Amino acid sequence: MIILGIESSCDETAASIVKNGEILSNSVYSQGIHKSFGGVVPEVASREHEYRIVPIVQEAINEANITISDIDGIAVTFGPGLMGALLVGLNFAKGMSLALNIPYIGINHLEGHLFASMIDNTEIKFPFLNLLVSGGHTQLWIINNYGDYNLLGTTADDAAGEAFDKGARMLGLNYPGGPEIQKSAKNGNPKKYKFPRPIIKKSKFNFSFSGLKTALLYSLKKMSKDDIDENLADLSASYQEAIVDSLIQKTQLAVKETGIKTISISGGVAANQRFRKKLSINLENKCNIFFPPFEYCTDNGAMIALTGYKFLSNDIKSPYNLKPIPNLSLAK
Ligand code: KG4
Ligand code: ZN
Repeated sequence: MIILGIESSCDETAASIVKNGEILSNSVYSQGIHKSFGGVVPEVASREHEYRIVPIVQEAINEANITISDIDGIAVTFGPGLMGALLVGLNFAKGMSLALNIPYIGINHLEGHLFASMIDNTEIKFPFLNLLVSGGHTQLWIINNYGDYNLLGTTADDAAGEAFDKGARMLGLNYPGGPEIQKSAKNGNPKKYKFPRPIIKKSKFNFSFSGLKTALLYSLKKMSKDDIDENLADLSASYQEAIVDSLIQKTQLAVKETGIKTISISGGVAANQRFRKKLSINLENKCNIFFPPFEYCTDNGAMIALTGYKFLSNDIKSPYNLKPIPNLSLAK
């Protein structure tokens, strides 16, 4: 069974071809236009998707060495994400499904990220913990089975990726902030600046990054431009360390309290090398940790196609009146 996966929930226009669960191609266009605004501008994102979607789908088909008539079904993100951006992918998928007379299925973007952590890790066993860390979400889940998920904790304010993006902006670095801070932190001292690790009393599994953001702002206010430039590596490394430590702290607590010793990490922040290394050092002897391959951490069509394959191969499809849901959750 050959599935075309389409992803357009934020600022990546992406398509992929998956054949019987094997990825044949994965084409991603990252909308660089948002760099000049320091963050994603929804209206600009929708227009870019509209402009890029046909070439990206064509590229995915060509790279997979198939023709359009070989496609048996289409999987497309229908939420969560930006309304206008989701509409482009969803309408495109519906039109293609009608024209080719093949089924299509709307996919939850978060479920796509979850499946991405299983791409090279078929030995992963239920139940396991999933830490979903992206630009819009920071959530700890118990994954009981396909479609059966319990939320343990979420963020009280910003998502981890958002903390990277906003911190980068304050430091004068480009968007997206995660990879920029990682690069800038490479030769920095993570202990030079003391940034807070939040203690959340309300729910012990919840995250919070707004205090950290404020702490960075106040530190920068006390420094001259030259001071900031001179200490950029240390500032980046210390800020990154605080985010990484918060994520690890809660994951360790979840392991301790649930007794579940298998963890998968998904979403764009899963690409962070310091996070991968430190989590592995801290939990390696106690747990099995599964990270997605780097190219499948950030938004991509392969994770959508793979999730779609699970549904479409069981004859589960979506009706043509499916609407985009910008605040769609993983919880039922
Ligand atoms: O999953 P994703 O591609 O999109 C959403 O669904 O949000 O995640 C994007 C987020 C951005 O906030 C970006 O700064 C962050 O992931 N990110 C990283 C890294 N690569 C991407 N954060 C830290 N380190 C990275 N290497
Ligand atoms: Zn995502």
